[in-house]
Amino acid sequence: MIITIVDTIYLIAIILFIVGLKRLSSADTARNGNLIAASAMGLAIITTLVYPMEGYTNNYAWIGGGLLLGSLVGYLAAKKVAMTAMPEMVSLFNGLGGAATMLIAIVEFYNYPSGTALLNGQMITTDFALFVGCISFTGSLIAYGKLQGFLRDSLVLPYPKVVNMVLLVAIIAVSVHMLTQPSLNFNLVMILLVLSLTYGITFVTPIGGGDMPVVISLLNSFTGLGAALAGLIYSNQVMLVGGILVGASGTILTVLMCEAMNRSLLNVIIGGFGGGGIAAGGGREEVVKEASIADLAIELKYSQKVYIVPGYGLAVAQAQHICSELDALLEAEGVTVKYAIHPVAGRMPGHMNVLLAEANVPYPKLIDLEDANKDFPTTDVVLVIGANDVVNPAAKEDPSSPIYGMPILDVEMAKSIVILKRSMSTGYAGIQNQLFFGDRSRMLFGDAKSSLQKLVDEIGNV
Ligand code: TAP
Repeated sequence: MIITIVDTIYLIAIILFIVGLKRLSSADTARNGNLIAASAMGLAIITTLVYPMEGYTNNYAWIGGGLLLGSLVGYLAAKKVAMTAMPEMVSLFNGLGGAATMLIAIVEFYNYPSGTALLNGQMITTDFALFVGCISFTGSLIAYGKLQGFLRDSLVLPYPKVVNMVLLVAIIAVSVHMLTQPSLNFNLVMILLVLSLTYGITFVTPIGGGDMPVVISLLNSFTGLGAALAGLIYSNQVMLVGGILVGASGTILTVLMCEAMNRSLLNVIIGGFGGGGIAAGGGREEVVKEASIADLAIELKYSQKVYIVPGYGLAVAQAQHICSELDALLEAEGVTVKYAIHPVAGRMPGHMNVLLAEANVPYPKLIDLEDANKDFPTTDVVLVIGANDVVNPAAKEDPSSPIYGMPILDVEMAKSIVILKRSMSTGYAGIQNQLFFGDRSRMLFGDAKSSLQKLVDEIGNV
């Protein structure tokens, strides 16, 4: 009877996971979708605790302690994290998911009755779970280190492709040897553990910092796969379906991000990208024109159509509210204001959408890359606020550029382009931007928030 009740509640949790995931696909329903999915997870955890499991009745203190500690750390981390550091947190939490799968696999191997043959579905699944969990764990830690700047892209392992291939062959060989023995040799599990943990490091280390979002999404799908494998090991449907959902959504996100950068996943994994720090103008002496607040205020006020291109710097400056104020001021003057949203602007998928939603910018004002590009030739002024790589024409014009092939916002088609940033520093990909030297381009140097504040004050005075 209790098993039927538990299975029914699992089914409800699974349905809620799917509903929650569906609601995450729109900004209006995302908050609610998150709550629904989190409630489903709570339901699944509580239900699992009452599931009758022989021989495991005295673990509630451990489980309760773990739940309390984990919830506290998760709550504080999520409350404290800056929006710009969200990818780092996702990466770290994802690594912990991988570590959990790894530990589950070790425990399953450890508890496996001695003298029992190993070549069966249960042990093959456990072996694979150990491998996937280890890659997610150490790979995510390396991704975290790269995003935080602890690990530089200049840290290059010798012959990474050869090392990875050798490790992969060794992992397969040890697995096959271990599973075909008459009984479990736990030393082989430990060797497999070390090899797989090392593979997670050598797999992610050669990938450039600019590609870390794609890598995190890929590792996220690995963690989902690991959770699904753990669901198989324990015959737990909610864990299985939850893992499949995470694995599938991580894979879809990975593919979408690769498409947004016009690169294949293989190219991301084996090609270096980012952190190069190529000199301005390829070494040529070039000068930029600077915009003045007074002139820009007049220009904006008398424009018909203005586009704002937000980027990572808008998030760093926390300038979204003043940006929305400028928008409202211009709209009141009869100017049409829209936002051009590049799919990889910022540091996480949907970063700009979240940021602008925080400042109550109406969603219909957010225009995607293709439509914005059609609109730029009839635009009077484009304000590029803290964006760099996503407006870099090198992506179209320079086959030697690491971002070549990535679709970009063609802001240079507009009548006037003003770039708000603090200096001539590069963006995430570490390459200079010829847009800054264009005939119709002007720079407005300074922190985006203070520049926008001055602009708003000035427009009020015009
Ligand atoms: P970036 O190319 O990183 O450029 C951001 C610019 O903002 C910098 O050049 C910086 O110049 C400026 N900036 C920083 N702080 C500022 C402040 N307080 N006020 C004004 N400007 C400021 O950003 P992007 O154009 O959004 O491109 C995103 C890049 O990140 C792409 O290469 C993408 O592949 C990568 N990436 C994307 C994601 C996702 S999924 N969105 C995740 C990780 C990485 P100054 O220092 O001169 O001010």
